[in-house]
Amino acid sequence: MKIFSGSSNKPLAKKIGKAFGQKLSPLEIYIFSDGERRVRVEEHIVGAEAVIVQSTSTPVDQNYMELFFIADAVQRSGAKSTTAVVPYLGYQRQDHIFRDGEAVSLEVVVKTLEAVGINWLIAFDLHSIKIPEVFKIPVSHLSALPLFADEIERRGWHTKDTVLVSPDMGGIRRIRILSELLGGMPYASIEKQRDLSTGKVEALGIEGSVARRAIMVDDMISSGSTMVKAAEFLREKGVEELHVFATHPVFSAEAPKLLQESLIKDVYVTDTVYIPLDKYFPKLTVLSVAGTIARAIENKRPQKINFK
Ligand code: R5P
Repeated sequence: MKIFSGSSNKPLAKKIGKAFGQKLSPLEIYIFSDGERRVRVEEHIVGAEAVIVQSTSTPVDQNYMELFFIADAVQRSGAKSTTAVVPYLGYQRQDHIFRDGEAVSLEVVVKTLEAVGINWLIAFDLHSIKIPEVFKIPVSHLSALPLFADEIERRGWHTKDTVLVSPDMGGIRRIRILSELLGGMPYASIEKQRDLSTGKVEALGIEGSVARRAIMVDDMISSGSTMVKAAEFLREKGVEELHVFATHPVFSAEAPKLLQESLIKDVYVTDTVYIPLDKYFPKLTVLSVAGTIARAIENKRPQKINFK
């Protein structure tokens, strides 16, 4: 097996390599002055299984193009199979038509990933459980929830005065799975409304009861508004202690500042998306998904999580 990394998340790729006791295979990614990229495999890989690690986070389009070129390069170099480890799959939220006239961007991306010859995709905490069905190739849909459950237990937060909260109704399945992993912890879900043209978020109500401590769980934090609004809403409902767990630290716009200055006590994310130093903030803790990915590659099957 040969492990290649695109430019988006080399630290994670190196950790995955380390789990297999191997270094990343050399890859030249040359950037021309106009921004175009030239990708070249610098090793003999005929007959090898190629694994490409590339998160398609910001800059999304650039990271996708790089992934497409690496996939093409490894096949032209004789790889017998091409696995793409895309811990964060860009455009996953654009998986259907919300308003007339829109593109289904995810479908375009999926077709391209398949067209460049990728034959197995490994991704993390996809926005919807239906996304793997859009692909014709096998998709291992892994989850950070077991990592979150371990951390919650380690912190001693799986107690009676704690409730798991999804900041929107779409996350109810996620919160149920986490509750099961934690022996049936109580959970609740906030009714969120987002204005599709301004992006403004509002918390309208809650299904379920709150407790003294709330642990909010989501697939990703982008602008941070969902979490911050949910925290304000929960505080109004009497929650005293607020913690956040989210798989993908997309951290667009002012998210780090917003979260640091919010009512939230601490924020746990994973390394599915590389966080540059200037986006770190004191309340942040990063858990690694490298072990989970390495195990999935080794076992050639997804971890045992019932996503249905
Ligand atoms: C939306 O449905 C997702 O699960 C997240 O809640 C959302 O993408 C977070 O975005 P933001 O941080 O910009 O509110």
